[in-house]
Amino acid sequence: MKKTVLITGGSAGIGYEMSRLFARDNYRLLWVSKPPEELANAKEKIMKELPSVEVRILAKDLSNVSAAQEVFDWVESLGFFVDVLVNNAGFGNYGDFEKNDLEKDLAMIRLNVINVYQLTRLFLVEMEKNKGGKIMNISSSASYFPLPNSSAYAATKAFVRHMSNSLWLELKARKSKVQITTVCPGAIVNTNFQAAANMQNVRTFTSGLASVTPQEVAKDAYKGLKKGKQIVRTGWKFRINYYITKITPRFITDFMLIREMEREE
Ligand SMILES: NC(=O)c1ccc[n+]([C@@H]2O[C@H](COP(=O)([O-])OP(=O)(O)OC[C@H]3O[C@@H](n4cnc5c(N)ncnc54)[C@H](OP(=O)(O)O)[C@@H]3O)[C@@H](O)[C@H]2O)c1
Repeated sequence: MKKTVLITGGSAGIGYEMSRLFARDNYRLLWVSKPPEELANAKEKIMKELPSVEVRILAKDLSNVSAAQEVFDWVESLGFFVDVLVNNAGFGNYGDFEKNDLEKDLAMIRLNVINVYQLTRLFLVEMEKNKGGKIMNISSSASYFPLPNSSAYAATKAFVRHMSNSLWLELKARKSKVQITTVCPGAIVNTNFQAAANMQNVRTFTSGLASVTPQEVAKDAYKGLKKGKQIVRTGWKFRINYYITKITPRFITDFMLIREMEREE
């Protein structure tokens, strides 16, 4: 029987690249993103590449607190069991902490934190009832480091990683058949993220210390999900730097973090 994957933000960036991998394995795709045109164009594009793929789309702003329940109700109305939930939709907001647009920061916190928490909770109940299912939550390399000019964003991603890793242990302890995998990509080049986060010319995307392509992220994440990994750090550069920073004196990592998060002239 055809399996179903629900991917938030599946119509762009790494969500789209992961969709291509799921579709090749004959998954039905359920996408929820904000702009209807982006969803329609992405659907047309993926169907050109993979004509047999089944795609259902829902245009919704997931930063509304009622959105998770509405997504859940939509899936119920379609009558599909979600075998895999990918909580991918998210954005950042770069700037001076106290000058950043308050409404944008609050929407980011609602999307990156509250929506991920609620969708995980809603679909976990169904997966437990069905004795199986997989959840993939997209965190970030940002979850490991204090990030100047992106404090709130880094904190949202730390929440995602900590909640998901903790739940992984909880599910293991109760011998659940449901699995949860956390994905931590480095700075991804060529997605809309950079512009949406107001991060044009920020060094971390060009310095080469942790940068990674959307295709690399999707490949590593998909492989990790299949293996049932607790955590996937994507891209070899970030994997190496993750271990190097563990043995690097704090004053050096602090210096590097400030440098990585500066705008290049
Ligand atoms: N890019 C990076 O450097 C990087 C690094 C580590 C982790 N990540 C994480 O990876 C995930 C995907 O990022 P990406 O680089 O693929 O970014 P992207 O190209 O901007 O894609 C994000 C997707 O999420 C959707 N989305 C954003 N806000 C939404 C909202 N309020 N309601 C519904 N959908 C919304 C976007 O649709 P719209 O067109 O509506 O915005 C888009 O489809 C995010 O969680 C991000 O935090 C990114």
